[in-house]
Amino acid sequence: MAILEVKDLCVDYETKKGTARAVNHVNFSINKGETLGLIGESGCGKTTTAMSLLGFVSPPGRITGGSVIFKGEDIRNYNDEQMRKLRGASISIVRQEAQNALNPVLRVGDQIGEVLREHGEKNNKLIEERIDYQLEMVGISPKRKKSYPFEFSGGMRQRVMIALAAIAEPDLMILDEPITGLDVIVQRQLINLLAELRAKMGLTALLISHDLSVIAEMSDRVAVMYGGYIAEEADVVSLYKNSKHPYSSALIESYPRIRGEKKTLKSIPGAPPKLLTPPDGCMFADRCQKAKDICFKQVPESVVVDGHRLRCHLYSGNSKGGV
Ligand SMILES: Nc1ncnc2c1ncn2[C@@H]1O[C@H](COP(=O)(O)OP(=O)(O)OP(=O)(O)O)[C@@H](O)[C@H]1O
Ligand code: SF4
Ligand SMILES: [Mg+2]
Repeated sequence: MAILEVKDLCVDYETKKGTARAVNHVNFSINKGETLGLIGESGCGKTTTAMSLLGFVSPPGRITGGSVIFKGEDIRNYNDEQMRKLRGASISIVRQEAQNALNPVLRVGDQIGEVLREHGEKNNKLIEERIDYQLEMVGISPKRKKSYPFEFSGGMRQRVMIALAAIAEPDLMILDEPITGLDVIVQRQLINLLAELRAKMGLTALLISHDLSVIAEMSDRVAVMYGGYIAEEADVVSLYKNSKHPYSSALIESYPRIRGEKKTLKSIPGAPPKLLTPPDGCMFADRCQKAKDICFKQVPESVVVDGHRLRCHLYSGNSKGGV
C-alpha cells in the first residue's frame, strides 16, 4: 500500500531573473516499509522535492502544481494547523546539514523533552524516561543528556537529529543527506544505525544522498533526478545493474564503488542545465552521448520499460511493464 503518492508535482522559484522550475512534473510513490532513494547531481531538485512534501517551500519558492497524497489525502489541501500536526508526528525530516540545527544554548536532553511536549506528552517522569530511551536508541548514553550540542561531535549531533525525527514513530521519514559532511567511520556508524531503525521501526523513508553506495545499501527503489525531472525510477538492483536512461548510466559509471574500483571512472562532461533558461527538449541533451535530433526539440514523455519508469526518447513508443 502506498503511504505517499506524489503526482505531477511542480515547484517554481520566482527570481528577479525569471522563473526557475526546480521540480518539474515529478511522480513517485513510497509503499509502507519501503525506502525510496533519491539521487542526482547538486541542484537537480532533491531537497526542494523533499521540502514540498512537508509544505516547507518558502518564497521565492512555490508549489505550482500537482498533488501530494499522504495516506489517501492530498495534503496540499491541508490548512496550517493540519500541516503543523502532520509534521514530525506523521512525516518527519532530518534536514541537509541537520547536525548544525540543534539549539546551541539548550541541553540535548531538554531539546528532546521539548519535542516530546510538542507531541502532547505532559508527564515529566515519562518525558525523562523517553529522553533516555531516544538517546539509547541512537547509541548515545543517557548520561550525556545534560550536555550542550557543542560538547557533541558532528556524528553525535546527527544521531540526536535522527532521534528527534524518530520520536513520534512517523509514518514517513525524510532523510536529506543524513551522512554528508561526516568522516567515513562516522558515516558507516550512522548507516548501521539507520539500518537498525529501519528493521526495528519498519521505517518508511525517502532517502536523499550523493553517495550511491549508501543508496544501494539502504533503498528498495531508486529515483534519479536531473534538472527537476525524475529521469529514471526502478528497483535498486535493476537500476544499478541495468540502468536505461543515459544520465543514470553516466552517474553510476562516474561513481567508484558501484561497478568496481578497477574500472576507469568516467566523469560526465558539461554541467547541469540552467533552470532559468532550460533547453527546449531533454534536459540532458547537451551532455548526452546518445542524443538525437528530437532530443533537442521535445521533452521526452514518461514511459515504463521493463519495470523502469523513465523519460528518454530512446524508449519513446516502447512503454511496457510497470514499476
Ligand atoms: N531560494 C532559492 N531561490 C532561487 N532558486 C533556488 C532556491 N533554492 C533552490 N533553488 C533552485 O532550485 C534548484 C534545486 O535546488 P535543491 O536545493 O532542491 O537541489 P538539490 O538537488 O537538493 O542540490 P544539493 O545536492 O546541492 O543539495 C537549484 O538548482 C536552484 O536553481
Ligand atoms: S532523451 Fe535523448 S538526450 Fe535525453 S537522455 Fe534520452 S537520448 Fe539522451
Ligand atoms: Mg539538497
